[in-house]
This record gives sequence, C-alpha cells and structure tokens, in this order.
Amino acid sequence: MGNMRILVLGSGGREHVFIWKLSLSKHQPVLFAAPGNAGTAELATNVDLDVNDFDGIGKFCTDNQIEVLIPGSEDPLVNGIVDYFEEREELKHIFILGPNKKLAQLEGSKDFAKDFMMDNRIPTAGYRTFVRSEFPQAVDFIMQRPGPYVLKADGLAAGKGVVIVDDPEEALGYLREMMIKEKFGSATDKLIIEEFIPGIEFSLFAISDGFNYKILPVAKDYKRIGEGDTGLNTGGMGAVSPVPFVDQRVMRQAMEYIVEPTFEGFEELGEPYVGFVFFGLIKGRKSPMVIEYNVRMGDPETEVVFPLIKSDFVELIEALRDRKLDTFNLEFEDGFCTTVFTVSGGYPDEYEKGISISIGEVKDGVLFHAGTKKSGSDLVTNGGRVIASTAIADSLSDALSKSYANAEKIQFDGKYYRKDIGQDLINIIKENNA
Ligand code: AMP
Ligand code: GLY
Repeated sequence: MGNMRILVLGSGGREHVFIWKLSLSKHQPVLFAAPGNAGTAELATNVDLDVNDFDGIGKFCTDNQIEVLIPGSEDPLVNGIVDYFEEREELKHIFILGPNKKLAQLEGSKDFAKDFMMDNRIPTAGYRTFVRSEFPQAVDFIMQRPGPYVLKADGLAAGKGVVIVDDPEEALGYLREMMIKEKFGSATDKLIIEEFIPGIEFSLFAISDGFNYKILPVAKDYKRIGEGDTGLNTGGMGAVSPVPFVDQRVMRQAMEYIVEPTFEGFEELGEPYVGFVFFGLIKGRKSPMVIEYNVRMGDPETEVVFPLIKSDFVELIEALRDRKLDTFNLEFEDGFCTTVFTVSGGYPDEYEKGISISIGEVKDGVLFHAGTKKSGSDLVTNGGRVIASTAIADSLSDALSKSYANAEKIQFDGKYYRKDIGQDLINIIKENNA
C-alpha cells in the first residue's frame, strides 16, 4: 500500500489537530486541508475549497487520488456529503469519517435527536416541539409554567439557536423572533421548548466504524468569553481532558443509560454510524443527561482529546475503514491535557482581522492554529479564535502552567485569553483530596 492520501475539511483548531496527529504517523500519509489555516499549511497542502462545495471537493478527490475524507465540522455532514460520495461511481470507494445525512440529523435537527432519545429511552430534558403554525400553543406553553425557559431552533443556526431566559416576557420575545420573524430562516420551522437541567456539562466522545465503537477521553470546554463563566458564548475558550468529576460511577451511568442505547438505536434504524459521536452531557444530582448530540468532534475538545491518543491515527483510520475497530488496540496517554485559546480583541462580537502575530519559543507543548493565515511571509489573524495552546502533564495544574506559559509566547495586538481555564476542576480535585 502506498502512503494514504487524506483530505481534512475545515479551517479551525480541530482540523489542525487532525492534520498534526496524522503527520505524526509512522505511515507518512499525504495530507491536504480545505481550506485549512496557517498551521495546517506547515504540515499539509492547503486547498482553497469551501467545505460545502461538494462538486469541487469531489473533483479534487478524484484528481488527487484521495482515499480518506475527514469532515471537521457538521455542515458538510448535515448537508449530505457522505450520500453525495456514495451516489457517485468515481467517489464511492473513498472512506469518509462521518455519518450519512440521515444520521447527521442527530445534530442537524434537534427534533430528530429528541425523537431518537425518546424512542431509545435516553435521559434528556422533557420537551415539546412546535411547528410554526403552533405559535399560539407555544405562547400558552410558556405562560403556563415557570422559567427558566430553554428555546431551541430545530435546525443549525451557527451555534446561536439556543436561548435560555428566566423571564417569561423575554422568552415570548425570543419566541416571536424565532417563529414569526424567522430569525434563523428554516432552522426555526420547528421550535423546541425544553425543561432547564441544572448541573455541570461535559463532553463524551465515541468513535465508530459502523459495527463497533470505542470511547475517547472525556473533556470539558469553557464556552463563555469571561472568567468565571460569564459573558457571551464563544466557540470555546479552552478545554481540559480528562474531567475529574466524571468518575467511574458517572462513566458507568453514561455508558449504560446513554452510549449503549444510542448505538442500539442506530442499529434499530438500520443505519451503521461511521465517525465520531459527541455526547453533550450534563451531570446534575442524578445520573447524566443528554443536552445535545453532535456528529463530529468538538472544538476545542479535540485540542485536548487527540493529544491523549497514543495510537497511530492512520492505523486507527484503517481499522475504522476495515470495520475492525473491535480488534484495534486504542491506547491513551496518562495525565491531563489542557488547552487555552488566544482570541482577537472584541471577539465574540466584532473584531479585526489581519493583525500580525509573532510567536516565541514554545516549550513542552504544541500550538494549534484556528483563525490564522499567511499574508506574504507574515503570520496574521484571520478569525476570532486565533491559536490554542495545548500541553500535557501528570497533573492538571502542571498542564495548565505549560499551556499558559506558551500562550504568553503568542503575541498580537488585542490578544485576550481566559486566565481561569480548569480552575473549577482544580478546586474539585482539592475538595476530593481534602
Ligand atoms: P445546545 O446547542 O443544545 O448544546 O445548547 C447550548 C447550550 O445551552 C448548552 O451547551 C448548555 O449550556 C445549554 N443548554 C441547552 N439545553 C439545556 C437544558 N435543557 N438545560 C440547561 N442548559 C441547557
Ligand atoms: N465545544 C463544543 C462544540 O464543538 O460544539
């Protein structure tokens, strides 16, 4: 066999991690990223293609003998890239690490995900779905019960389709925006109102070849812009893996009540699920519940989960492609992995792009690029989340010290990062040891 030719779709930190992990393989794969960023450009060939341009991607794959396609984000999967490739003689041999359009609805339609969980008795918040013509019923529903109110657009809304408010008047305002003013277009043809679940969130990942699955290290991300989890939601300001409060008991509950029934549910649908399943879970006083499914890895979770994978990524892909994940020895590093995202001033509101970045000597860690690009020979910012600083150590506090030391080496005007990533977990570890 020649060197495996792999195309990764996307341009974020997650996609840089995939390329980085592949570049460490002893099988020396030939790597492409579309569209990629300045980080992927160091290890792969960047290709100027949009992740939803299936014709362009298909043609690129044929012209360049691509054997494996790894979509980083959900949109090409939800838009049916797997079905597109399967339907074409010249593309159907290409292995895609992701589910087909039907199963991608797990992320693409919250109503589908909720039905799936009900059918399979998977613990999740109680809910009701309203179609647009049921606006008056949705209003009554809110008026009849106390807050907090969790309103969710059924479809993809660029991460903005969920609002949580305490005040019923405010909830009705959002309801009107989503259902009547069609703020998110067809994403709110249906709207879900669900019960608020108090608790602490974590991310659980499984990888599946359609017949067998394995669990990856658990992670926690930090979504808010401000310290102490305050302020606006972002794409993610940092992450930690594994998560101290997810002990063996929580893990056993998650496996028994959530992960196993999920894969049994896929079997019942008669659809082999290939790719990553991201379980967004919440741990309250009782056993964990599902907040959402995603059909891809998380970002920035990938920046802490993948560095903990010891096994060769090319060999893992071969095992997935050959449906031999059950006999594959998937090994992990001990210790903790942490990442801290440096972001553009102003993010997640408006921010400037094209600001020069300089990077000093990085020790004991690795930088994953997200919003970066090359402008001539200069490295410049090209997005809100710019570079993630990842490190591994035996203890969580040592990993964080290294992540922060390297984050200091990244310089650009307006640079901001949260100083408290992982601090809540350090406190939990201290309490457990007290
Ligand atoms: P989602 O897009 O479904 O993940 O929702 C976005 C965020 O809203 C989640 O990460 C949670 O922080 C929060 N959230 C969603 N649903 C609920 C719920 N039922 N109870 C409490 N928090 C929720
Ligand atoms: N970190 C959450 C996500 O990737 O959706």
